Amino acid sequence: MTPKRKPVVGGNWKMHGTLGEAQDLASEVRNRLSSYGAVQTLVFPPFPFLGAVAQRLADSNIGLGAQDLHFEKKGAFTGAVSAEMLTSVGCAWVLVGHSERRHVFGDSDDVVAKKLRAALAAGLKPVLCVGEKLEERKAGDTFAVNRRQLRTALNGLAGDQLQHLVLAYEPVWAIGTGLVATPEQAQEVHADVRAAVAELLGGAFAGAVRIQYGGSVKAETAAGLMAKADVDGLLVGGASLKAEEFAAIVRARA
Ligand code: 13P
Repeated sequence: MTPKRKPVVGGNWKMHGTLGEAQDLASEVRNRLSSYGAVQTLVFPPFPFLGAVAQRLADSNIGLGAQDLHFEKKGAFTGAVSAEMLTSVGCAWVLVGHSERRHVFGDSDDVVAKKLRAALAAGLKPVLCVGEKLEERKAGDTFAVNRRQLRTALNGLAGDQLQHLVLAYEPVWAIGTGLVATPEQAQEVHADVRAAVAELLGGAFAGAVRIQYGGSVKAETAAGLMAKADVDGLLVGGASLKAEEFAAIVRARA
């Protein structure tokens, strides 16, 4: 791994837990990781718990993010949450284009692009997620799908607008399935994602941007993935709900 890219590991709590459980998990994550500065740690709780988790993480080096946002600033969008709402409860980060938003809720590449712009306009740091489905991989379209998702999201944006951007490669077939990509599979796609970013935003930007891998990461697979040259961190779902395992994943980097 190039030393200038500080690893970044996120815990995506998805739709799990109650307020009390979220508060306890946040406090436990803080206790285990607040003195560990070698890796940037982020957590992404469900919307209703963001304010309470922000309090638990106050003045710590653990970043707080939301799992999604709406692209409009305000209005009659029942159930939706704007970027400004997120910043107002203490969020600094937001996932954009997570595969569950794309494939369960139907967010198109264009919607993801709008969400990315809304996040940037509000000063949120985006984690832009891309990833291919199993049938796309089987058809030999892995690189093309990830490149299309990247291109649509990043088209027309400049590097200086994207200085806090983090990318996450999350193959859909690996999410929540226990089928973790091998370090070699992850590295192959990460290298192509970085090459695609170089074409879109230049080599210097591509060399600096951090690319996380996500999909069935566990404590025992974290080190092997992070050892790869273009894997700059991990985005963890299920295993991030247990503070002990999440802390082990964050600390797994050699
Ligand atoms: P799992 O780690 O549960 O497979 O989820 C990965 C993910 O979607 C993180 O955003």
